[in-house]
Amino acid sequence: MTWTITDVQSAFDKAQPTYDTTATIQYQAANQLVDYLPLLNPSSIIDLGCGTGFVTDALLTKYKESSYHLIDLSDQMIAGCQQKYADLDSITFATANMDHYAYSKTDLIISNLAVQWSKDLRALLSTLASKASTVAFTTLTHGTFQEWEDLLRINGISSPLLPLPSTQDLSQLCHNLNQDSQIISKDYQLTFPTISAFILYLRNLGATTGKGIQDKAKFKTLIQSHKEPLTVTYKVLFCIMGKKYKPIS
Ligand SMILES: C[S@@+](CC[C@H](N)C(=O)[O-])C[C@H]1O[C@@H](n2cnc3c(N)ncnc32)[C@H](O)[C@@H]1O
Repeated sequence: MTWTITDVQSAFDKAQPTYDTTATIQYQAANQLVDYLPLLNPSSIIDLGCGTGFVTDALLTKYKESSYHLIDLSDQMIAGCQQKYADLDSITFATANMDHYAYSKTDLIISNLAVQWSKDLRALLSTLASKASTVAFTTLTHGTFQEWEDLLRINGISSPLLPLPSTQDLSQLCHNLNQDSQIISKDYQLTFPTISAFILYLRNLGATTGKGIQDKAKFKTLIQSHKEPLTVTYKVLFCIMGKKYKPIS
């Protein structure tokens, strides 16, 4: 699938009001990522692709004194965060593309389920690793929503999903950037009563971009004929690159 930055921005702008009530997996992953962090005392933190602030919310319970910089491509996501954290002077904001941002040196760069939207993940991770003492991120890996892809394929419909790296390639990339990288993979599953419910879920999450499904006629037939629930699996890779770690179990 090809997608433009404008597509992504617009999809997440539209999803901002529905994101929090829809993004249950993203919420779990954000809290898990913060839980996996080593014992740190970061004075400065960047939350990259902050969305509505799940990661920052979790970090604020641990690091109240730190300064935070929240970056997101979506004006609406940033506007929502500015409102939510209006009382906190320690938080600054930027509407920006993670691939072209001029990062300052910082103690911790953290990002939950956002870097899969990078146009050049290798270059992005390399930049982040050069700017922060610790980089902690989650991203989707190959096999995410495989059930959905399979269903589309057997019905002759080409996949509208993002191309995702394999767990193996991504682990190798992280280890090349930092040999002490801690990597863990986790699967999360969700079941939807109908295909339409799944499509609505994707839209409310902002995960629909670009031209979407091309073969509208076949897709309509599939929606009408598929009466079983649809279970989809998120394959999430957690990576922590830095010097000091508590072991991940
Ligand atoms: C799935 S949401 C995750 C949001 C948040 N990190 C969370 O844990 O809920 C992905 C976020 O990444 C942002 N995003 C996508 N592409 C981006 C880019 N190129 N630069 C900055 N942010 C981007 C989206 O606007 C969206 O808010």
